[in-house]
Amino acid sequence: MSYNDNSQSKNLSFIPNDNVSLRYESRIRELANTVFIHQALKNSFYELWVSRPFTEIEFRKFSHNYFYRVHATTRRLSVALVSIDDWNSKIQLLHNLSDELGAGFSENVHVRVLHRWINSLGRKIDSSWRFDAIDESMILDTTKEFIAETESLCQKGALSACGAILAQEWHGYTQIGLLYEGFRNYKPLYEFDDFHDVSEYFYVHLGRAEKEHKEQAVTMCARNCNSESDFLEMSDSFQRYLQLLAKFWDGIHLSITDNQVRST
Ligand SMILES: [Fe+2]
Ligand SMILES: [Fe+2]
Repeated sequence: MSYNDNSQSKNLSFIPNDNVSLRYESRIRELANTVFIHQALKNSFYELWVSRPFTEIEFRKFSHNYFYRVHATTRRLSVALVSIDDWNSKIQLLHNLSDELGAGFSENVHVRVLHRWINSLGRKIDSSWRFDAIDESMILDTTKEFIAETESLCQKGALSACGAILAQEWHGYTQIGLLYEGFRNYKPLYEFDDFHDVSEYFYVHLGRAEKEHKEQAVTMCARNCNSESDFLEMSDSFQRYLQLLAKFWDGIHLSITDNQVRST
């Protein structure tokens, strides 16, 4: 962002300010709630994931693409942090980033906790499973498109970044719930305590992080939204993010079902 762009920002505040108008808050909340009927959450991938255990190749396709996508989250949040001038919004994004980075503890960094879960389940499905590096050949174009375009949304400006983060956080809680429901199909493969131990990836999100992130995202959007055109810009970015997410899951579903067609 150039010096001029920064100086023209409507939301530039000299010091952190708690007393700003949140008059768009209820419309932002209404918008956020539309996520529950969107294909980003209601899609064929989740239906398949919760319906039965995956084979090794199916799990590999899902896990490499999912890990690759989740891996980009801290970068996306960091880009949003630069794009949004409002101090209080930056503070909220920093809380979010801190959660993703395990509050400073390497063992608790979310991608590390996710990696533990993927490796654990992978080995249950196939004892020779290894996940030491991302297999680039497994990464779908729809996954790459999601990462590149959602980062652009966060780079474009404060309102676009807010809309993208709102979508990210509001789909996130339900996404984790759906993935956990599918993981329960594998419970018979685990000792009782071991199952709950590797469920840490789900519990850390369902327990606290994602609920807070949802509320923080609404407040952040409301703080940055001061007019009808602001709301539309934010809303367009929200919709685009969800569209890209629906394509991401469709891409994985297609790569799995395509394989089934070819092998029958
Ligand atoms: Fe996370
Ligand atoms: Fe989150």
